[in-house]
Amino acid sequence: MESLIERAARDLASSHHAIALTGAGISTESGIPDFRGPSGIWTKDPEAERRAYQTYHIFLNDPKEYWEEILARLSLLGDLENAKPNPGHHALAELEKMGILKCVVTQNVDGLHDKAGSQRVLEYHGGVFKLRCPSCGSRFSRQEYDVERLRQEGQLPPLCRKCGSPIKGDVVHFNEPIPSDIAHESLDEAWKCDLMLICGTSSVVYPFAQLPRIARQRKVEKEQKAQSGLYLVEEVAATTIIEVNAEPTPLTREGISDYLIQGRTAEILPKIVETVKELSR
Ligand code: APR
Ligand code: ZN
Repeated sequence: MESLIERAARDLASSHHAIALTGAGISTESGIPDFRGPSGIWTKDPEAERRAYQTYHIFLNDPKEYWEEILARLSLLGDLENAKPNPGHHALAELEKMGILKCVVTQNVDGLHDKAGSQRVLEYHGGVFKLRCPSCGSRFSRQEYDVERLRQEGQLPPLCRKCGSPIKGDVVHFNEPIPSDIAHESLDEAWKCDLMLICGTSSVVYPFAQLPRIARQRKVEKEQKAQSGLYLVEEVAATTIIEVNAEPTPLTREGISDYLIQGRTAEILPKIVETVKELSR
């Protein structure tokens, strides 16, 4: 009986456009807490989650206060500057190097996929090392603004160099729209992919959690087209959805994913890569 790791390796090796979707679970083995796992940030401090729902509203109403708050508190995620990618991140970067993985769409703001060498990364919820202008969409690296000096000189909020509007951190807050460029590219990938590898996410936050459902819908259409007899089967791309997660998620329970490999991404993903290599020997 083939193991699920062998099955995933075979599915990946035979895919034409595989993408990965990741969440906080892939970074926990880099020492960054997740949100809803047993020792997650929201699990341990529901009040912090309630406050997080206000952040974007504060920015819209009073960008100066937003910045005062941001600068006053330490990141809930800890020291991201010095965080290092773990074998899970490196495994996805290697699958990209092998020409199998075409893109990583991540909810994580920690920049670890980039640090691991992944080239095509869509930061669906933005990134902590960037600033963004919600008005014109311009992004800046954090180094381009000395926000601490602006605070001391009473010059907050920092203003966009392109359009003069107040800018904010690139991280997307609850109730904040996903930046349109990222939203479109991620949707395009969900439509195009014939394999979706979903790693370390509880898949409960929308609109990100819609992406696997879109890929699944393609699978349903494929089956309907194949049954209709009106299409040559090869015309209809299959879509295989694989979860690698410590626990089942709504995608597992609702049959959106084809199978769940339950366990730690830092252990499972490298094993999948090794097995893909054995298949191609
Ligand atoms: N290997 C595999 N799975 C893991 C690991 C691991 N080492 N560690 C944790 N997990 C699982 C948890 O069991 C959980 O199911 O990863 C999942 C992480 O889920 P969440 O904590 O909800 O994180 P995520 O899905 O990324 O949250 C989505 O919510 O708060 C917002 O913007 C925030 O991007 C975040 C979004
Ligand atoms: Zn602007």
